[in-house]
Amino acid sequence: MHEQSAPVGRLAGKAAIVTGAAGGIGRATVDAFHREGAMVVAMDLAAPLAAARFDASGVIKIACDLADRDAIRAATEEAVAKLGGLDILVAGGALKGGTGNFVDLGDADWDRYIDVNLTGTFLACRAAARAMVAGGKGGRIITIGSVNSFLSEPEAAAYVAAKGGVAMLTRAMAVDLAKYGILANMIAPGPVDVTGNNTGYSEPKLAGEVRDEVALGRPGLPDEVATAAVFLAEGGSSFITGSTITIDGGMSAMIFGGMRGS
Ligand SMILES: NC(=O)c1ccc[n+]([C@@H]2O[C@H](COP(=O)([O-])OP(=O)(O)OC[C@H]3O[C@@H](n4cnc5c(N)ncnc54)[C@H](O)[C@@H]3O)[C@@H](O)[C@H]2O)c1
Repeated sequence: MHEQSAPVGRLAGKAAIVTGAAGGIGRATVDAFHREGAMVVAMDLAAPLAAARFDASGVIKIACDLADRDAIRAATEEAVAKLGGLDILVAGGALKGGTGNFVDLGDADWDRYIDVNLTGTFLACRAAARAMVAGGKGGRIITIGSVNSFLSEPEAAAYVAAKGGVAMLTRAMAVDLAKYGILANMIAPGPVDVTGNNTGYSEPKLAGEVRDEVALGRPGLPDEVATAAVFLAEGGSSFITGSTITIDGGMSAMIFGGMRGS
């Protein structure tokens, strides 16, 4: 009889859902989780998900629009059924970008960013929490906020407000879900180049901004975010909940400076 070898890795045998899985940080997270032995369901909008390539062939793709309440519930149920349970959610799906000056910010833009980035994150987290409570084995919820969860920037009010909401949502979950053994933490990235070929910040103005605003003088890479998601998902981080890991190359540690003058 063929003897099946036990899965190895820091997340061996764990069942995970990643939203925003077709994006730069999402793909890196799916791949990192898979390398560490987790079974992963990748969720994203249908078209980007169909086009997304992952390192492992065993990644299960389930399309889901975070602005659609019924779709999130159904997709989570399908994922839990396919995985045989749920241990980890990484809630990273979001719209990015600015919405213009506050005075001109329209209702439709405001609604879109709040619906996808805040309400969508809430719905994905609640669906996952319900599955984890039903499973009775605790779990890990990792939201992807931003440095914009606590620092603003020009012409991005809807994004910034939604990301600020994600920060407090994460703390609220940490408080309410502790009694079920479910830990909730947020990752707050600064500028991360998700182009896959280090060109995301090569345009001179953006490159100059990163040089001036990031202590390390460069944007981060998706793998440098995924590594923190693995840490927050694994056994060793068992006393961390309600916390934020900021991954911004020192951006939020200073008012200005960076590599300026060096
Ligand atoms: N890259 C950065 O500089 C940066 C900085 C701070 C925070 N973040 C956050 O990190 C997370 C991942 O961002 P990324 O840089 O990989 O961006 P990305 O645009 O590559 O990925 C975001 C993913 O979310 C998906 N998405 C958007 N709307 C959706 C919807 N309605 N339903 C389902 N999925 C939807 C997109 O299809 C995309 O695949 C986001 O939450 C983003 O706000 C990124």
